[in-house]
Amino acid sequence: MVSLKIMNKNLEIKNPEEIGEYLGKIGIQYERWNWEKLSSEDASQEEILEAYAREIGKLKEQGGYVTADVIDINKKTENLGAMLEKFNREHWHDEDEVRYTLKGHGLFHIRTEDGDILVIEVERGDLLRVLRGTKHWFNLCSDMEIRAIRLFQQKSGWTPYYTGSRADEKFQPLCFGPSFIKNAVSRD
Ligand SMILES: [Fe+2]
Repeated sequence: MVSLKIMNKNLEIKNPEEIGEYLGKIGIQYERWNWEKLSSEDASQEEILEAYAREIGKLKEQGGYVTADVIDINKKTENLGAMLEKFNREHWHDEDEVRYTLKGHGLFHIRTEDGDILVIEVERGDLLRVLRGTKHWFNLCSDMEIRAIRLFQQKSGWTPYYTGSRADEKFQPLCFGPSFIKNAVSRD
């Protein structure tokens, strides 16, 4: 279930519409898409991009995105630890980070201009658009898996600029399942 926590305000929102409203006020787009368009969670990249062509086209018009692809990360991913190291330190991009989750779970931490720390857990059906320049970091959840459509404004793809703030170290990479299982990949 999608969840938004505002860590420093001890606030948690679980209603998708309310999450969309809250995030919209700080320029982050959150919405639910119909995930039942795919015959299988393991559909090929081509099938996925075809099934969501209309939604992707609309986003491209709105945000000037020029390419879309599907990222697959799971326990079998080669060099998984090294890959997660790239995501789980606070960084920003000079383009929007747009992710539509198809499978698995993800945990976005966002540090707002006001200094709030937002934690957003996403799952199948969640679209999140984090505006360029927003400081954030990303972890997997206990299932250690995410499959997502990504959109880019530049053909060069994913380029992170690390802040070096180490703000990420102050927050455990937890997902909000009943067992609060800690992410199995250690930073050290
Ligand atoms: Fe990022």
